[in-house]
Amino acid sequence: MNANTHRLPLSTQAQPAKADRSYRLRPQGASRILSSGFEAHTEVGPGQVLLRMGAASLNYRDLLTLQEPASEGKSLVPLSDGAGIVEAVGAGVSQWKAGDRVSPNFFPEWTGGRFSATYLGRALGGGQTDGILRERLVIEASALVAVPEHLSLAEAATLPCAGLTAWHALFERGRIKAGDTVLVQGTGGVALFGLQLASAAGARVIVTSSSDEKLARARALGAWHTINYRHTPDWDRVTLDLTDGRGVDHILELGGPDTYDRSINAIAPGGQIAQIGVLTGFASQPNILPLQFKNASINGICVGSVEQFERLNRFMAEKQLHPVIDQGFAFEQVPEAYERLRSAAHFGKLVIEF
Ligand SMILES: NC(=O)c1ccc[n+]([C@@H]2O[C@H](COP(=O)([O-])OP(=O)(O)OC[C@H]3O[C@@H](n4cnc5c(N)ncnc54)[C@H](OP(=O)(O)O)[C@@H]3O)[C@@H](O)[C@H]2O)c1
Repeated sequence: MNANTHRLPLSTQAQPAKADRSYRLRPQGASRILSSGFEAHTEVGPGQVLLRMGAASLNYRDLLTLQEPASEGKSLVPLSDGAGIVEAVGAGVSQWKAGDRVSPNFFPEWTGGRFSATYLGRALGGGQTDGILRERLVIEASALVAVPEHLSLAEAATLPCAGLTAWHALFERGRIKAGDTVLVQGTGGVALFGLQLASAAGARVIVTSSSDEKLARARALGAWHTINYRHTPDWDRVTLDLTDGRGVDHILELGGPDTYDRSINAIAPGGQIAQIGVLTGFASQPNILPLQFKNASINGICVGSVEQFERLNRFMAEKQLHPVIDQGFAFEQVPEAYERLRSAAHFGKLVIEF
């Protein structure tokens, strides 16, 4: 991973009138470099909402985007995840009003129903679609969800990618129920949402991590068992031991090539592996034959829809769950937040407060 944020050229230009502070990923060689910038004010059009962003959060995806070649040499406002306050609404918008606390969905166009491949190129903060790391954002009203009352904007900003992905995997596709067993890999954003959401549903959750200190924190959050995957690389064998040889009902597969075969070994008959992550690389080539003899499945999961996000928020409110925030950063400290993400020292989410 290139340490592109080390060379952050903070803009020295004065802030123009009618412009908001932002960050942009600018093309540099084979990848991109993070730099501060300004965005001209955009008029709010029919069906749209103008937001003043209050907080944003980082995901592993944002490191991948930083090192991707810039498409057509264009710069890009990064990050998909944020929460803010409605400042103005355009003609025809009746569901939101000034002062409402809202979050944009990762896929603004995926409001409900089945996924469409056309949504992929329109995900916030990737490809050619600008993201939310800016003081103001104009977005379609239909792309927004209300922030649960018990959450701060900083907490709500952690939900759109990591929270919704874990929810989609376990609840929408996995149909998790009390008494089920779950395994999550590591202690990053998706994994800890998996731990919190599944525990709140009455499931028993096994957490793997490279750090005993992080595992102690996972137990304090409700983990049923924990396994250090550095000290115990055959965590699949331990998982089978812990479940009387049966395996677990759900696995959030976050690792990829280095973890897949072990996930297939550790899944129970009839269990479901949620294909989510690429932490150890792309193009996993696991032996999937054992799935057949277990009547087990792999579900491909790509974040989620507005409707699913609303159901996640209802569950967060009902169970009074608060996301785990590792550290908050000021807007000026965005490069430090990227460095913390890159270090993988974090436990849970990294948040930018505007
Ligand atoms: N498909 C989707 O819609 C979707 C959505 C969100 C995320 N993702 C993917 O899911 C993965 C996690 O994303 P994130 O944002 O939650 O990441 P993150 O917060 O950056 O989590 C990083 C953590 O992953 C753990 N990890 C790294 N290698 C591991 C391994 N071999 N085994 C187990 N854990 C390992 C480490 O935990 P410890 O320090 O505890 O060891 C590390 O701290 C990424 O690959 C991301 O691209 C996909």
